[in-house]
Amino acid sequence: MSNVFKRTHMCGVLNSGNIHENVVLNGWIQKRRNLGGLIFCDLRDKTGIVQVVFDDKIPQDIFEKADSLRSEYVVGIKGMVKERQSKNPEISTGDIEVFANDLVIYSEADTPPIYIKDDDNVDENLRLKYRYLDLRKVKMQKNLTFRHNITKLARDYFDSQGFTEIETPILNKPTPEGARDYLVPSRVNPGKFYALPQSPQLFKQLLMVGGSDRYMQIARCFRDEDLRADRQPEFTQIDLEMSFVDVDDVIEIQEGFLKKLMKEIMHVDIQTPFLRLPYDEAMERYGSDKPDTRFGFELKKLNEVVAGTEFKVFADALEKKGDVRGININGGSEHFSRKDLDKLTDASKHYGAKGLVWMRIGDGEINSSVNKFFTQEQLSEIAAVFDAKPGDLILIAADKPKIVFDTLGFLRREIAGRLGLLNDKQFNFLWVVDFPLFEYDDETDSYSAMHHPFTCPKPEDVPMLDSQPGKVKALAYDIVLNGVELGGGSIRIHDKKLQSKMFEVLGLSKEVCETKFGFLLEAFKYGTPPHGGLAYGLDRLVMLLSGEHSIREVMAFPKNQAAQCMVSDAPTGVPEDQLEELSINIRE
Ligand code: AMO
Ligand code: AMP
Repeated sequence: MSNVFKRTHMCGVLNSGNIHENVVLNGWIQKRRNLGGLIFCDLRDKTGIVQVVFDDKIPQDIFEKADSLRSEYVVGIKGMVKERQSKNPEISTGDIEVFANDLVIYSEADTPPIYIKDDDNVDENLRLKYRYLDLRKVKMQKNLTFRHNITKLARDYFDSQGFTEIETPILNKPTPEGARDYLVPSRVNPGKFYALPQSPQLFKQLLMVGGSDRYMQIARCFRDEDLRADRQPEFTQIDLEMSFVDVDDVIEIQEGFLKKLMKEIMHVDIQTPFLRLPYDEAMERYGSDKPDTRFGFELKKLNEVVAGTEFKVFADALEKKGDVRGININGGSEHFSRKDLDKLTDASKHYGAKGLVWMRIGDGEINSSVNKFFTQEQLSEIAAVFDAKPGDLILIAADKPKIVFDTLGFLRREIAGRLGLLNDKQFNFLWVVDFPLFEYDDETDSYSAMHHPFTCPKPEDVPMLDSQPGKVKALAYDIVLNGVELGGGSIRIHDKKLQSKMFEVLGLSKEVCETKFGFLLEAFKYGTPPHGGLAYGLDRLVMLLSGEHSIREVMAFPKNQAAQCMVSDAPTGVPEDQLEELSINIRE
């Protein structure tokens, strides 16, 4: 089709200011209605929808062509903007309509397998299979443009702060970020594999050794992990690294970025500096290292008040060095029936809880699932820890600390959601700092790095590396928004001796370190600036600011829950000759 109408306007921008103007529009037919002498069409492009009218006073052939239009035909129209008789306040173009006097059909369309309408309640796999149709929805186009605006602002801001955008390799060695690697076989090096980067971590540190001083990248990362609403196998980071900095320097630059972002993209003034919550306090108060502080329901420890109890569940937990903790849902009692509480107990089992104790605070009497194990006086003592009032609902879990934190952390947010306390318009940014350097694993009786093995311990804790590694805190920080971990980073170790000590505590032999990160250790021999950085999950950032609940809504072509691309059917098998070329045999 050579005869393309030269567009004067996008559909969604027209308004009463354009009345009496001649316009030329291109787009897709959303729908068409023939009311005898008048044909109404909704014309859509990425900016929105406008009503186009063909009346039977225009040349017969054009009117007939208009009558042949069907949903998703791609057309160009010429016409004049007029005031609309029946206005539609729902859409931005609702005050006007375009009276067409010329029409070209660029292409016809079969009936689409999904309805092109925002928030149409269709199965997500079908949306993903026909993603190119799904993307025609105005909301999806808005999300992609919104993402572009955030990326652009990030580039401009970090540029203004002296950062240089530098690309790091995609085909390389495994990055130690804790997930499984995606491997790529090398044809010219039979039996050898590249790993796709889980993050640019090692290379951005090499860039600091290389003198780049301040680096940024909008970086693709690949992690073979179990998928969730906020996790994809390939995702994007805004990745940053800086030389000659401490924790405060990194945080200050990031707060400047987030303040500007919120102002320019969301038109919201946020207060800086953000709250800095030490990890231990975040766990004690919220049961989570990414606390949502938009609502209360803080955790309270009950170990002391219930010490000496005969209630076996609590006594067992305490004896095994576990905890008894609870949350108070203020005024929550009436909102949760017995059945609701049973369901919450069931849901808690996903977090390892074996049960849940509930207490309803009444006027002068406390009703609970453990009335037969506790006197009213004992129950009142527990209630007093929470400063509970009549109408409150207390939920208690007893187990290993991790299970108790995970369970109550989950319940806090789940219940806040049900009570409508998660306000999308409120943006509670905070830093979680002073993370433990190591995570202890009961099963293997060993330590692993909580962030990654290059994270620097707090200088005052270094003497404990040998004696009490579990107590050592790290110069690491996570940025959290409304209960979602947006990003994280740390000051890195730049001292060879300290790095070797770190590997020793992690139980990594010299050989293993040499093969895994020998190149980084070698680089550190030749003059390394102190450095540190951070990476944001761009997809998560865009999701939260656009009010979406899944990162799939802000990615053009995300994978489904089974890590498949529904459009192209990837991953697929490959022909035998290609495998042979790669020296690969598939195991049965
Ligand atoms: P980390 O592993 O915490 O740190 O990743 C940084 C941020 O990336 C986002 N993210 C993801 N987003 C979508 N899908 C995923 N599968 C996924 N995994 C992570 C999160 C997370 O906070 N190299 C370090 C950063 C540093 O130390 O500078 C790193 O990658 O929002
Ligand atoms: P049981 O003695 O197992 O009948 O449990 C009595 C009450 O304690 C029930 O309300 C259970 O849901 C609750 N419960 C059981 N295990 C735990 C636990 N680990 N933490 C908190 N409550 C529990």
